[in-house]
Amino acid sequence: MKKSLFALSFFLFSVAGFSQNNKISIIPQPAVLRPGVGSFQVNRSVAIVIAPKQPELLKIANMLNAALSKATGFTLNIENADRKGAIHLTLSPDEALGKEGYNISVTPEAISIIGNAPAGLFYGMQTLLQLMPKEIESKKVVADVKWMVPAVQINDRPRFGWRGLMLDVSRHFFTVDEVKAFIDDMARYKYNLMHFHLTDDQGWRLEIKSLPKLTEVGAWNVKKTGRFNYFSAPADNEPRDFGGFYTQEQMKELIRYAKDRYVDIMPEIDVPGHSLAAIASYPDLSCTPGTYKVNSGDPFMDWHNDGTFTARIDNTLCPANEKVYNFLDKVFTEVAALFPFEYVHMGGDECAKNFWEKSAEVKALMQREKLKDMHEVQSYFVGRVSKIVGARGKKMMGWDEILEGGLVKDASVMSWRGMKGGIEAAKMGHEVVMTPTTHAYLDYMQGDAAIEPPVYATLRLKKAYEFEPLPEGVDPKLIKGGQANLWTEQVYNTRHMQYMLWPRAMAIAEAVWSPKQSRNWTNFVGRVESHFARFDVADRKYAPSIYDPAIKVSKNQKGALLLDFETEIEGLSVHYSFDNSFPDNHYPAYTRSSVEVPVDAAPLKVVTYRAGKQVGRMMVVGIEDLRKRVK
Ligand code: ACM
Repeated sequence: MKKSLFALSFFLFSVAGFSQNNKISIIPQPAVLRPGVGSFQVNRSVAIVIAPKQPELLKIANMLNAALSKATGFTLNIENADRKGAIHLTLSPDEALGKEGYNISVTPEAISIIGNAPAGLFYGMQTLLQLMPKEIESKKVVADVKWMVPAVQINDRPRFGWRGLMLDVSRHFFTVDEVKAFIDDMARYKYNLMHFHLTDDQGWRLEIKSLPKLTEVGAWNVKKTGRFNYFSAPADNEPRDFGGFYTQEQMKELIRYAKDRYVDIMPEIDVPGHSLAAIASYPDLSCTPGTYKVNSGDPFMDWHNDGTFTARIDNTLCPANEKVYNFLDKVFTEVAALFPFEYVHMGGDECAKNFWEKSAEVKALMQREKLKDMHEVQSYFVGRVSKIVGARGKKMMGWDEILEGGLVKDASVMSWRGMKGGIEAAKMGHEVVMTPTTHAYLDYMQGDAAIEPPVYATLRLKKAYEFEPLPEGVDPKLIKGGQANLWTEQVYNTRHMQYMLWPRAMAIAEAVWSPKQSRNWTNFVGRVESHFARFDVADRKYAPSIYDPAIKVSKNQKGALLLDFETEIEGLSVHYSFDNSFPDNHYPAYTRSSVEVPVDAAPLKVVTYRAGKQVGRMMVVGIEDLRKRVK
């Protein structure tokens, strides 16, 4: 299908797809979806048919079998000859599908998935699995389910080539198997790029053979329990045995595992800020002599109200010290040799300058290189890193701070402090990935602070769903795509990792895969809810925050507190109490006019119902906490 025809068919058929909400719930929404009549039953007599002598097709067929067999209890024959009652996986040249597009046809007689390239077949397989009953997500055999696939025609291909999800393994280390599960979850939603944040103040996670202390020392801190950044400073005798790292062999295994799922891994070595783990390993890398410890989550940076910040402990590499560039040459040489992906990310974010300002070495560097301020010092540093990375055959990417003091030639920018850095970089002809905090930061709270684990900012699902990676007025070719980021300061285990990711990572997946004109919040929520049911079967966690209201507080002229409850989704009734009892749907319902808090009110308790069933969590907020919310 030609490009224009592809777009036209979206307009013709997408509406039909929307109306199939209960039956067909694909995330991300395919470009074109036409429901058919009847369904195809997958049973033991069905075969997967592929062309002979095609190892990549065989790999995908085996993956399909692995995904089907857990719940069905049977494995399909993989055959080479065409026959009735088959799932065909076919490679067929079709430029309109690009590298990652696919067509699916499901009729009562057969299923056919066609890709122009293997990645397309892999994504077609993901769509096929989402077309199957939710029980297919079960890790155990489910009896009494007919494995019906509704008849449908789907033509699909991604809007962007860069569909990223960042995982921070520095703040909290996740094992190889845990990262593999993360990659599996990414692939389900057609993400193709894992940005691996491998180094930070709290841990260095990658073996660098020429610099063994990075992992002997830098990978370990003191285990603390509670709220990150509020921990007490560790005593000298507390064991530094919390953390871990990936050997290069383990990293190769992860790269292979990801590649098999059409996911590239981009490593990030975050310099010159966020470098305490490296400095604890090699203190000479700092401009400030001293002994350093890997941070364990106790506060050491001050974040000021005007958006500036200072470090109490120097966590920056010294830009005026040639040893630092020798160090980085060793690091990036090994990193470039290990990771096949074309980009290496060098961080560049949130570099405190207060220790550089005091350094005689930095002053001398400024004079020698005619650098007029600290931004230009950082730009000099980034330029040196760019030469090292370029000499190893890689393109360099950095957070949008690398624009400050002058963006170095050929650097690509990851725009996180909003879209403006990305727009500026694209206007200068640089490649850009958009990942603004406003829409794509999955470490933020996804609901009201009264119920969510506390974080300093909020990003609700609806806002994430509004993410539009392509700003007006820039060359679309320079906007490679978009990405969501999971920072893990407050993520201590994989269950909470899942809670923070889902469903917001579904919203971002749709922003980077589906045609812009297909975006429809109400339709999306319907599909998200059917994916919740699939997550329940899979025993994967997700945040139910869409069912909880946001509580808005104001004051009337008499000084009484007024409450309003905002819900993200339609059809919820909000019930509340101020008398210490648990409200249910027999309690007063919020009617969109503000509720006055009684003078002697006990803590607010509030909960949502839908069609007579509790859907929200019981939220409890003290009156003093409500009062603090008044602007
Ligand atoms: C960042 O969030 N510091 C890139």
